[in-house]
Amino acid sequence: MANTVHSQPRYTKRLMLRPFRRRDVSSLHDAVTASLVDLQPWLPWIEGYDRGVSQRFIRESVSAWAERRAYDFTIRAADDLDRHIGNVSIWTTSQQNAIGEVGYWIRSDESGKGYGTEATTRVIQIGFEEMGLHKVQLRIAVGNTRSERIAQRLAFTLEGTLRDEVKVGDRWLDHTVWSMLESEWAVQRERHRAEGTIA
Ligand SMILES: CC(C)(COP(=O)(O)OP(=O)(O)OC[C@H]1O[C@@H](n2cnc3c(N)ncnc32)[C@H](O)[C@@H]1OP(=O)(O)O)[C@@H](O)C(=O)NCCC(=O)NCCS
Repeated sequence: MANTVHSQPRYTKRLMLRPFRRRDVSSLHDAVTASLVDLQPWLPWIEGYDRGVSQRFIRESVSAWAERRAYDFTIRAADDLDRHIGNVSIWTTSQQNAIGEVGYWIRSDESGKGYGTEATTRVIQIGFEEMGLHKVQLRIAVGNTRSERIAQRLAFTLEGTLRDEVKVGDRWLDHTVWSMLESEWAVQRERHRAEGTIA
């Protein structure tokens, strides 16, 4: 497995993805506070959120990238690089079996534009083509239909349901697991290229 991910920006049709920098705290904090209602049902770290959570996230993100533990990207519109649109991350869950997982969120006032699907496509490409993964997974809370639509639009296969997988507030959420294999990516990559989503 290659597992070397460079830190230069990546581009899609409309977006730029790059690693976090310390000075991204304000733009990240703005995006989270503008999206609390939509993030809170699904993401455990939202409980008790304050600016310090974003500060610690960026500090940890910089270390994780340097130590090759996880790759977090800030998503920016190519025509407005100052505004944080959302996060997309990829990390290895099994080194031996070359399996990785992707997670994402998009700020509320930019949702429904296909940005989640577009950014996730580019990060899946990193997983297969830079990290050398054999399989990429998504874990999605049961009931999170917007996120399920991303898995379906990207032609992931539903593998099954994990019971009480994540505790959000005082609720335990079942999660579905979705996956794509490297052989399937080879086919999907051509579709995304034909649609102009990725180069
Ligand atoms: C789930 C999430 C990432 C989707 O991001 P997005 O950029 O809106 O997604 P896309 O625009 O690529 O579209 C995904 C689907 O959601 C639909 N959708 C997006 N916003 C919507 C809205 N406000 N109301 C209804 N449907 C919406 C889109 O139409 C699309 O469905 P389609 O394929 O049937 O057309 C975003 O809503 C989010 O961050 N939610 C909270 C955090 C979260 O759930 N993260 C994922 C954890 S697994």
